[in-house]
Amino acid sequence: MKTPVQITVTGAAGQISYVLLSRLVAGDLLGDDQPIALRLLEIPEALGVVRGVNMELIDYASPLLEDVIISSDPEVAFKDADLAFLVGARPRGPGMERQDLLQMNADIFSVQGKAIDAAAKRSVKVLVVGNPANTNALIALRNAPGISPRNFTAMTRLDHNRAVSQLAQKCGRTTRDIRQVAVWGNHSTTQHPDLCHALVDGKPALDWVGRDWYENDFIPTVQKRGAEVIQARGKSSAASAANAAIGHMRDWVLGTPPDDWTSMAVHSDGSYGIEPGVMCSFPVRVRDGDYAIVQGLEIDAFTQERIKATETELMIERDMVRHLLG
Ligand code: NAD
Ligand code: LMR
Repeated sequence: MKTPVQITVTGAAGQISYVLLSRLVAGDLLGDDQPIALRLLEIPEALGVVRGVNMELIDYASPLLEDVIISSDPEVAFKDADLAFLVGARPRGPGMERQDLLQMNADIFSVQGKAIDAAAKRSVKVLVVGNPANTNALIALRNAPGISPRNFTAMTRLDHNRAVSQLAQKCGRTTRDIRQVAVWGNHSTTQHPDLCHALVDGKPALDWVGRDWYENDFIPTVQKRGAEVIQARGKSSAASAANAAIGHMRDWVLGTPPDDWTSMAVHSDGSYGIEPGVMCSFPVRVRDGDYAIVQGLEIDAFTQERIKATETELMIERDMVRHLLG
């Protein structure tokens, strides 16, 4: 029998976690022979709801679920974590921009970064989902000096998946036929979903769809999809966000397919001229649990300008939370 993987989920009473936890106990992350132990973090007022969620997890009768610990103490929740999903944060409502969340949510990630530093395994893989995800991840990693910045990532996989699906639909193909879509920058409306290297059925995506659709339809649709879902549902995306979190973490642990890459916001090393140290989405490949930014892609003037805009936003956000960066 394998040793259980210790997984921390924050915001365990929330709508994303409700789906995420059910996918975890079903074995969708690491397969149906890998036991898991869950540590669920919530604010004290929401612990009753988490107990209800836990009853449901028990009622799955999953052979994979070895243990569940529920706590409002971050150091208890991150104890010995192998994998951590940082979901807990206030979501955007209709009409709000992501930057509105910055001051509201920033303190959470400074406290949790310190707790990760104090309690988690040094090899922990941290995925920040709570918005503004890139800058929250930066706050968390800067408050965890004992852990490599490479162990912190933020989620742009939902944007990546949205881009893949929009492209597949436009071309009348399935998502299985799409490769090498890239999302650059911030998980916000400045993000740049890039089709310049994407392939549909092995042929250049831009030959399938043309530049007009790419620039005037595809890019704004992907950039504004989160707000569109909020407008339609009255709440921010949940099932698709949980699915993206599973996909991001699974690829990080088990690797990306040999003929493709994915998009993750990672600590910039200056690749493609992007400000070192900001948490920027790049195309990445993963081998042996370690990611590498895809190198050597040709960047045209249009793409360069879009990447610059989203990088600038990341630098502005970083400067807004400088007091929390340790
Ligand atoms: P939700 O309001 O349903 O749940 C959030 C939960 O976090 C709540 O139960 C709340 O009590 C809890 N929480 C608040 N502060 C906490 C703390 N200090 N410690 C632990 N838990 C805490 O929200 P949701 O819809 O599940 O969304 C969660 C976050 O994910 C939001 O910030 C949302 O904007 C973000 N999100 C990100 C993406 C992405 O692609 N990166 C996609 C969708 C949503
Ligand atoms: C999304 O992209 O769906 C989420 O980040 C929610 C939001 O605020 O847009």
